[in-house]
Amino acid sequence: MKEREHFGSRAAVIMALAGSAIGLGNIWRFPYMVGEHGGAAFIIVYLAASLFLALPIFFAESIIGRSGGSNTYGSMQKLAPGTGWKWLGLLTIISPIIILSYYSVVGGWSVEYLFKALAFDFSGSDARIEGFFGRFISSVWEPIIAHTVFIGAVAGVVLGGVKKGIEKFTKITMPLLFFLILVLVVYSLLLPGAGEGVRYLVKPDFSKLDVQAVAAAMGQAFFSLSLGVGTVLTYASYMKADENIFASGLGTAAADLFFAVLAGFAIMPAVFAAGIAPGAGPGLVFETLPYIFNHMSLWASWVGALVAIVFFFTILVAALTSAISIMEVGVAYLAEEKGRSRKKAVLEITLFAWVVGVLCSLSFGPLAGVQLLGNSIFDFLDKLCSNWLLPLGGLLFTLFVGWKMSKASVREEFTNKGKRNTRVFGLVYFLMRFVAPIGIVIVFFTNLLL
Ligand code: TRP
Repeated sequence: MKEREHFGSRAAVIMALAGSAIGLGNIWRFPYMVGEHGGAAFIIVYLAASLFLALPIFFAESIIGRSGGSNTYGSMQKLAPGTGWKWLGLLTIISPIIILSYYSVVGGWSVEYLFKALAFDFSGSDARIEGFFGRFISSVWEPIIAHTVFIGAVAGVVLGGVKKGIEKFTKITMPLLFFLILVLVVYSLLLPGAGEGVRYLVKPDFSKLDVQAVAAAMGQAFFSLSLGVGTVLTYASYMKADENIFASGLGTAAADLFFAVLAGFAIMPAVFAAGIAPGAGPGLVFETLPYIFNHMSLWASWVGALVAIVFFFTILVAALTSAISIMEVGVAYLAEEKGRSRKKAVLEITLFAWVVGVLCSLSFGPLAGVQLLGNSIFDFLDKLCSNWLLPLGGLLFTLFVGWKMSKASVREEFTNKGKRNTRVFGLVYFLMRFVAPIGIVIVFFTNLLL
């Protein structure tokens, strides 16, 4: 069999994992959630959810991936041969394809907006901006073409392989992303009236911390750290044996949180400076911000146009590195379990996700009437993954590491055969065995009942 590829260095591992983690979730969900659920108070809860619930699962996936040394299905199969656990591997092949399909539709929107920004279309009359988003996503061809371009770019990078594709791409783009978001933060803070937005983000309001806020923090931590579908597992299977699982996890979580907070400071001050009520999701990024770039330019009007370009480029790149990590899960499975060449595996996953994505895209237009359990196709798939498949996958991964694998082998993997992290192992093991699973189950049921 062909020798498996590995990431070349610690930096490469963290860039790839951070590239997966930092994505649309950081830019359009986190800033709004923080403001909505009590500012700094929510950040504290988010931190706790990350440390006690999400990170243990991150470690669990890493441990399975590296000791299994294979894709999700293959790793489970190898660590627990002949048991039903391999089906967990299969589940995590299906959910990434679904996530990839709708994620790539939104990725396509950012492609479209980058082109519009490059054509200086946002500096036109307001009438052209207002209502554009609605018209665009409900049309038939434009969003499908954009979705195709996006998923094509993702496929192009994944085709290059672990080292020459993923590693090379994320090593260049991740530092660039941090640089660009910093530029955006500085610009945003310079706008007159930015202070209100800063207050929205930082003012702690503990009265808003209810059960929903806690559940939201957990859901967000899961999605943002790319957990529950085997993304981390697959990337960890490309880590070298002497790589530090604990440090990579902490590093990724720190980079992810830092970027999310920066995104908040890039977006909210501008939103408040323009005197607009903040909202979440696509509306915030694709409607509010183009309006702001058009209306509030510091120094000269072309500056706003330039900032729009930087902004949509940043979103596009952040979305690309995440989508790449999602696609790799399925590609690794097909290549290793079904004997496909990498090229054929990429082609198959891309085609499949493209078709589902087209349905998602059309669900904003001609297929808007198609309802699955009261949701549009897009919303249904998003909710199915975020609320059900991700937490379920995460739960099963921790249970596997905490209760199925032997403590000795878990310890060996986590501590690099006793060479490091021996002092934190006890705590991490306890979190993986008890705290994370119980926490997920509680949040699961509160979500069900509320
Ligand atoms: N974490 C990414 C974001 O914040 C999205 C993502 C990548 C993801 N891989 C994933 C989400 C796996 C869930 C599961 O946008």
